[in-house]
Amino acid sequence: MSAAAPTWDPAQYLRHAGHRARPFADLLARVPDLPGTPPRIADLGCGPGNVTALLADRWPAARITGYDNSPEMLDKAHVEHEGPTPGGGRLDFSHADVRTWTPEEPYDLIVSNATLQWVPGHTERFADWVAGLKAGGTLAFQVPGNFDAPSHRLMRDLAGSPRWRDRLAGTLRHADAVRTPEAYLEHLTGLGCTADVWETTYVHLLQGEDPVLDWVKGTGLRPVLTALAEDPEAREGFVAEYREALRAAYPAGPHGTPFPFRRVFAVARKEG
Ligand SMILES: C[S@@+](CC[C@H](N)C(=O)[O-])C[C@H]1O[C@@H](n2cnc3c(N)ncnc32)[C@H](O)[C@@H]1O
Repeated sequence: MSAAAPTWDPAQYLRHAGHRARPFADLLARVPDLPGTPPRIADLGCGPGNVTALLADRWPAARITGYDNSPEMLDKAHVEHEGPTPGGGRLDFSHADVRTWTPEEPYDLIVSNATLQWVPGHTERFADWVAGLKAGGTLAFQVPGNFDAPSHRLMRDLAGSPRWRDRLAGTLRHADAVRTPEAYLEHLTGLGCTADVWETTYVHLLQGEDPVLDWVKGTGLRPVLTALAEDPEAREGFVAEYREALRAAYPAGPHGTPFPFRRVFAVARKEG
């Protein structure tokens, strides 16, 4: 089982849609005006399409395509968000693998939110993407920078423990799934872009029982859930052990469960 091929569950993923959309809004706030009228926009790893739809709020006349390789996510996006936008633009969704996607026409904006951590060697794709931008166009992305946080460390430790390691070896991503902010800055400026790179740690205040487990069931835990899908008893066994560890690492407070989450952002403008 490869970490790059989990099965996605849009309903589970969308349970924390409000918290997950915040970094996308913060990313877009730093994207400069686009050169084209109307602009052409690609969203790589668009998921269920709810954040892709936010692009039409900022650029109402834009032609926007969300790309993803999960049939489950694309189905949700097609049903909920595809079609003309109120500002005279259009929102479409299409199957593509971000590992090989190359712009087939000049783009004003190529954006990717919370996806490139699933794409090993993604910095090697930047040159093709920047080449596919119009002069003055932008490549903007956000990736989680939390692979050393307890949520992910505990998951990896458990997967590597004697009970699970034979079944889960190589399933989970490690800290090298994303680069440092400095490495992204160097890479993007090396491609001739003006780059703005930063990091933010959000402290999400989650509600309900075992909310961190509920969160990672939509994302980071997908490879384990996929690997054990044919064996519900084993799957529940792993989740039960992991749940106990998460309860100790993220105790509930009087107002909810604080969940610190570091994220790395980059906005790179191609000079004209
Ligand atoms: C955490 S979700 C992010 C979804 C959306 N961008 C958002 O911000 O809500 C990651 C998405 O990346 C997609 N993905 C992962 N690897 C991919 C690849 N190689 N090609 C296309 N999509 C990929 C997954 O199917 C999933 O929909």
